[in-house]
Amino acid sequence: MKKLNFGCGHRFSSGWINIDFNSEHPEVIAHNLLQPLPYPKDYFDVIYSSHVLEHFSKDTGEMLVKECYRVLKPQGILRIVVPDLERTCREYLRVIDSIENEEARKQYEWIIIELIDQLVRTEHGGLMKAYWRQVLENNDESSINYVQARTGVNIKEEIATNNTNSVLEKVFSINQNKLKNKFKYLYIDIVKRLIPRYVRKSMIDETFLGEKHKWMYDSYSMKTLFERVGFSDIEFMDAHTSKIPNFTNEVLDINPDGTVYLPGSLYCEGIKPNK
Ligand SMILES: C[S@@+](CC[C@H](N)C(=O)[O-])C[C@H]1O[C@@H](n2cnc3c(N)ncnc32)[C@H](O)[C@@H]1O
Repeated sequence: MKKLNFGCGHRFSSGWINIDFNSEHPEVIAHNLLQPLPYPKDYFDVIYSSHVLEHFSKDTGEMLVKECYRVLKPQGILRIVVPDLERTCREYLRVIDSIENEEARKQYEWIIIELIDQLVRTEHGGLMKAYWRQVLENNDESSINYVQARTGVNIKEEIATNNTNSVLEKVFSINQNKLKNKFKYLYIDIVKRLIPRYVRKSMIDETFLGEKHKWMYDSYSMKTLFERVGFSDIEFMDAHTSKIPNFTNEVLDINPDGTVYLPGSLYCEGIKPNK
């Protein structure tokens, strides 16, 4: 069975063709998703992607889903996972409706960041990382738990790893592909520095690739996108369910300890019909 995971990031597994912009591991093929998928039509049985589509504009996202349709075999399955815009909006409304309550006022601090920050940030981490640091410094357990329940991210571990990676650890973790990427980013950095500082700030977005959201989806817009492209049997699943054979044994939407990797996501599957 031929399976593709596009925009895999660090979440890749053997038995799949894993592609991402950069490759830091032999299991990952470097490919820019703004280019057509480098495979012939009717090639894959399964295509999966998690938290990637929202990093492209609405039109480019549609092009990408069309590319998936092209390279899928008839009866092949496409599974797309994205943050759920409707779920975030409903939580925002729940919080704002109870804003008289002190706990809701604390939750508001996070939910407004969850809703907007990744769409508008111009610096790596945006307001999100600053908020994580703030609640950790204040030992604000209820806010820490709220963020964890909504995102699945253990912010204590996340910030600790960011802070404690020593220079030595960083040097030992470098392999040939990582070194190539580092030179690429160094080159970009040098070119950026040639631009006068007063124009640089307004011209250059300092977020990482795949960090900023350019569009977002709810079940209505995702279903109509799948329909426009030609998919049939469109269904919304959860992290534990899929039509893909043995999918729930993969460490993709489920962590090795059985918890959901990115809670609150929208899991959409569709089938490419026979001609
Ligand atoms: C938020 S991460 C998701 C990673 C992984 N699928 C996961 O669920 O953890 C988005 C991924 O999309 C990739 N990406 C964004 N733009 C891309 C592009 N133009 N070409 C290839 N990959 C891209 C990024 O490199 C990043 O790994």
